[in-house]
Amino acid sequence: MPLDEAFIDTSYMSYTIIKDKRVLRDSYIPDTLPGREQQIFQFSRILSDLLVDQPPSDVAFIGKPGTGKTAVVKHVIKKYRNEYPNLRAKFAYVNCSQATTAYRVLYQLNRSMGVLVPPSGYPFDVLWDKFVDAYMTSNSRLVIVLDEVDLLVKRDGGRLLYALTRLNYDLPEELSISLVVISNTMDFLERLDPRERSSFEPNRLQFPPYNHPQLYQILRQRADLGLKVGTWEDEALQYIASRVAQESGDARRAIDILRMAAELAENERAEKLTKEHAIMAVDTVNEEEVSITVRTLPLHHRLILAAIADVLERPVVRAGTGTIYRAYEQRASLYGVKPLTMRRVSGILRELESQGLIEIEMQYGGARGNTKVVKKMALPLRQMRSLLAQMGIR
Ligand SMILES: Nc1ncnc2c1ncn2[C@@H]1O[C@H](COP(=O)(O)OP(=O)(O)O)[C@@H](O)[C@H]1O
Ligand SMILES: [Mg+2]
Repeated sequence: MPLDEAFIDTSYMSYTIIKDKRVLRDSYIPDTLPGREQQIFQFSRILSDLLVDQPPSDVAFIGKPGTGKTAVVKHVIKKYRNEYPNLRAKFAYVNCSQATTAYRVLYQLNRSMGVLVPPSGYPFDVLWDKFVDAYMTSNSRLVIVLDEVDLLVKRDGGRLLYALTRLNYDLPEELSISLVVISNTMDFLERLDPRERSSFEPNRLQFPPYNHPQLYQILRQRADLGLKVGTWEDEALQYIASRVAQESGDARRAIDILRMAAELAENERAEKLTKEHAIMAVDTVNEEEVSITVRTLPLHHRLILAAIADVLERPVVRAGTGTIYRAYEQRASLYGVKPLTMRRVSGILRELESQGLIEIEMQYGGARGNTKVVKKMALPLRQMRSLLAQMGIR
């Protein structure tokens, strides 16, 4: 913790609403996971082959961010470790958002076998042989969890998945490797090479977005564990649950908003966290998220966003690609840079859409054929403008 943060924490700021800050953090996993009983049951049942010393089948967890995939995998593995301490099985968990290359994943797998290899610079095959040798002498079944595996597949294809599944053919009967792959994208299995796919056919466990009652239960649990008794209004939780259910069904976001609402209420020295705090918190968290995305954008993407704001501010004009392009040309010349082509700008509109920064609707027919029309931006125009202004686009 930096010094100034420690200073704030311990000196003048007393927590009037928050009882236990940890509970409101992303890394906290509660003992029960409301709304995920079925996935927990199914995954536990798949792993139960280990109880009779058989290899469990491979599994793929599939669902959008914040649907409890990581929480469920960790919850169930913890349960197995606690309830069956003498199980002849090992679990290795690797998060591929940190280990994005096959090399880094293999480095982690070696570590989980107790083998230390250099974090870079070795030939891949040497690392592979070391892992296989270590595993051969381990005398236990192995369950490997590859979380956020879509990032690994994007970088390195399915080569490592393929190698790990194929390894089973060379193992003696008492050894086995089962894969649990976790993906935020629905079609990640379809994108594997046909050869890789034919040797890897996991059971699929779907994680649908949370609905309003489920999000309410999740928030209720955090409020009971993390906030002081009598310092929050139920209406506030209901409001957050309903907003998030409409937008995304992402539990991470719901919990972020709850934490923000509690902090806003404390900063105001309010006695209670109310629906008004929740409403403010939604806007603040939105702005933070959008700001993080906008900061990573190249200059022309930002100029295009500013141009969209220019056009949307004039309510009589339809924000079609052509109109946006002309506003963008003006922006570019003000900024003193050469504009990109219309074709490129049209592609960038799609990118901005997939990053959730704008909403596009196709309009078919008409004099100029089909056009993309921007309906709205992720933030109110005024907020988007001031965000861009902070980044030098005025
Ligand atoms: N059913 C649930 N009950 C309680 N907390 C949950 C539940 N699902 C997710 N969470 C919490 O929401 C956050 C995001 O969940 P996570 O499992 O990391 O999502 P994913 O891996 O699908 O992106 C975590 O802080 C997690 O503890
Ligand atoms: Mg996750």
